[in-house]
Amino acid sequence: MLSWIISVWTIFAVAQCYFSEENYTEESKMQPPTVIIAIIARNAAHSLPYYLGALERLNYPKERISIWAATDHNIDNTTAILREWLTVMQTQYHYVEWRPLEKPTSYVGELGPKHWANGRYEYVMKLKQAALNFAKKRWADYILYSDTDNILTNPNTLHLLMAENKSVIAPMLDSQSAYSNYWCGITPQGYYRRTAEYFPTKQRQRRGCYPVPMVHSTILLDLRKEGTKKVSFHPPHKDYSWPFDDIIVFAFSCRISEVQMYLCNKERYGYLNVPAKPHQTVEDDRINFVHLYLESLIHGPPMYVSRNVHVPPKQSDLMGFDEIYLINLRRRPDRRDRMLWSLYELEIDAKVVAAVDGAALNSSDIKILGVDLLPGYYDPFSGRTLTKGEVGCFLSHYYIWKEMVDMQLDKALIFEDDVHFQANFKRRLMQLMEEVEQVELDWDIIYLGRKKVNLEEEVAVENVRNLVYADYSYWTLSYAISLQGAQKLLNAEPISKMLPVDEFLPIMYDKHPNEDYKSHFPNRNLMVYSTHPLLVQPCHYAGDPEWVSDTETSTLWDDDNVRTDWRGSHKTLKGYQPPAGLQSATHKDEL
Ligand SMILES: *[C@@H]1O[C@H](CO)[C@@H](O)[C@H](O)[C@H]1NC(C)=O
Ligand SMILES: *[C@@H]1O[C@H](CO)[C@@H](O)[C@H](O)[C@H]1NC(C)=O
Ligand SMILES: *[C@@H]1O[C@H](CO)[C@@H](O)[C@H](O)[C@H]1NC(C)=O
Ligand SMILES: *[C@@H]1O[C@H](CO)[C@@H](O)[C@H](O)[C@H]1NC(C)=O
Repeated sequence: MLSWIISVWTIFAVAQCYFSEENYTEESKMQPPTVIIAIIARNAAHSLPYYLGALERLNYPKERISIWAATDHNIDNTTAILREWLTVMQTQYHYVEWRPLEKPTSYVGELGPKHWANGRYEYVMKLKQAALNFAKKRWADYILYSDTDNILTNPNTLHLLMAENKSVIAPMLDSQSAYSNYWCGITPQGYYRRTAEYFPTKQRQRRGCYPVPMVHSTILLDLRKEGTKKVSFHPPHKDYSWPFDDIIVFAFSCRISEVQMYLCNKERYGYLNVPAKPHQTVEDDRINFVHLYLESLIHGPPMYVSRNVHVPPKQSDLMGFDEIYLINLRRRPDRRDRMLWSLYELEIDAKVVAAVDGAALNSSDIKILGVDLLPGYYDPFSGRTLTKGEVGCFLSHYYIWKEMVDMQLDKALIFEDDVHFQANFKRRLMQLMEEVEQVELDWDIIYLGRKKVNLEEEVAVENVRNLVYADYSYWTLSYAISLQGAQKLLNAEPISKMLPVDEFLPIMYDKHPNEDYKSHFPNRNLMVYSTHPLLVQPCHYAGDPEWVSDTETSTLWDDDNVRTDWRGSHKTLKGYQPPAGLQSATHKDEL
């Protein structure tokens, strides 16, 4: 009997223990704060697929996000795109509020669809206020405003901003120029004031989260903070006398409410398009945006279109050339992809040609191809002779000239694969070629990208804008070439007296300073011009950590044992001044 009682008690005790230890449940985690994302779209059909793609990829639970979306005064497909996206996505987000306004399509007194007339400022202020009221009514923790040409390509942006624990905070966004979404100074009248901090901040020489008098375009408000109870977009404060502009009205409201605005530039968060000028069209804005897209490919994180909206296919063409060649080393698919995406966005068709890989050639292969060095050739800066990379590069260009002649192509365009396109590239090139044709210019080569060696100004070509007679130049980044030009280059029989292709061309137009080299090529009558300003730049410069040259860092042409590394060669560095505002330059170059 006793043993029976003990065993029952033991079972009971064991069960108790089992229950309390094994089945004990931890407290569950907190859910992330709730966020309203306010989307206010107008004539944004070109940027919306990228904008929405970036919102979708934000690394934040969608069931904790509501979307408040409004669109109005459109002349493009903005309403349809946004509606399509919201219809697909509404099941994933907590809630979707949709406020489309089909008519009218313009504001009273506006100069064009990109102009900010007073009526537009007022309407946008009212929309922003309506979104804020909605967020407050729903007791949302945060509201994120983000203009539809602000592409938040860093998926952690929301988390990163929240972690700073500020009432009003903006991620610093990169653009194609010095423009960004903050001011470091404000005048007593409420206008932009230049400050010493602006550029170091923009270029991230100074990194952190800083109090600033103005942030705009993409801002996150923490509605749990007491201060944000008082801030507003509309109507402007009764003491308001500054310009009638939604961003300035809001900055003033924050100041009056003693809420400090902050700007963060610790990381790359995304991109914003430079604002269109009042007279510009939606198409002008789209072309600027393409340029912004190309920037995102170079600096990352890149933009991607949303898969949940219809994107009309691009209409690519050859811009009047018979062929456009893109020279790419097979072992650099990264460069090929970037160039192909860029060309696709620019609506330019190109044929990829596999570059001759100098590194894969041994010295006997090179001899079999009939390659021989120009007697006495030495690199002017390093004193080395030709590298295998330079042999491969020469042959790559040479085979294209040969194809042009074999196929009797009238004119072709050649790109190497580390090209950074200047703004409005396609329009500018087409305009130039049209003028060249109008004046019946006799041309063999037109450089679109090169390094000008001498400082002297070059002579302008009459009646063609932005074209000069080319002086001594390095690089063969991109050029247009005529059939006649290709024939002249082949006739010179350069394979048996090779030197780097960018030294060969200046010999052929008789601008090379070395008389000995020139003496091997008697017919130096190539007609060579250059665009001015240049239409392309190299993506990365020698000396940049990211820069890898495949021609200047390979082995010597006739010796498989000697490894040569010419990174930082004077030829690529010396005297090269990247134009102001070029984003791919190193930081010190950017100013
Ligand atoms: C939790 O307790 C029950 C009895 O209350 C038991 O059946 C179950 O196996 C226990 N679970 C675990 C994970 O031990
Ligand atoms: C406008 O957008 C809708 C929805 O995305 C699409 O079905 C339609 O083809 C688009 N129209 C044009 C002209 O791009
Ligand atoms: C965030 O800031 C508030 C003051 O606005 C402070 O009370 C709170 O402790 C801060 N939270 C964290 C996690 O630092
Ligand atoms: C050079 O490479 C070729 C293949 O490309 C090979 O057949 C040949 O034997 C190599 N010659 C030497 C000297 O290594």
